[in-house]
Amino acid sequence: MRRAAPAVTALAAALALAGCGAGEGSAGPELSVSAAYMPQPVAADMAAGFLTVTNKGGGPDELTSVSSDIGKVTMHSTTGGAMAERASFEVPAHGRLVFRSGADHLMFEQLKERPRQGRTVTLKLGFAKSGPLTVEMPVRSATYNPSTGH
Ligand code: CU
Repeated sequence: MRRAAPAVTALAAALALAGCGAGEGSAGPELSVSAAYMPQPVAADMAAGFLTVTNKGGGPDELTSVSSDIGKVTMHSTTGGAMAERASFEVPAHGRLVFRSGADHLMFEQLKERPRQGRTVTLKLGFAKSGPLTVEMPVRSATYNPSTGH
C-alpha cells in the first residue's frame, strides 16, 4: 500500500492558491492538446503525427503512452538527424511538449488502412498524473506546413 500524502499536500497547496485568489492555475498539471495533424503518408503502412501538449498548471506531467485504433503508435525523439524511440516525454509546468516536423514526433506503424487527407485519426494520450486525453488528429496533405496552413 502506498500513502497518498504527497497528493494531499499538492491538493492543500492548490486549495490555498485558489483561496487567496491568485488565479494562476493549479499546483498540478492542466493539460490541453492543440495543433494536431498527420501529413497523408507516402508509405502504405507507416505515418508520422504531430501535436502540441500545453500545460497551464504549476506542476509537470509526463506523456507516457499514445494509442490509436488505426495501428501501433510510438513516440520518437530526433537529435541531430537520428531518431530514437522514447517511453515518455516531459510536459513541463507552465510549458509545452511539442511534436513537430523534423523534430520529436509520433510514429504510426502497422496501419490497418492508409490515412487519407480529409479524414481524422483518433488518438488517446496517457499521462503519468493527468487523466487520458482523446485527440482527433486531422489528416492533411502530404506536404502540409502548419506555419503556412497548406
Ligand atoms: Cu520516428
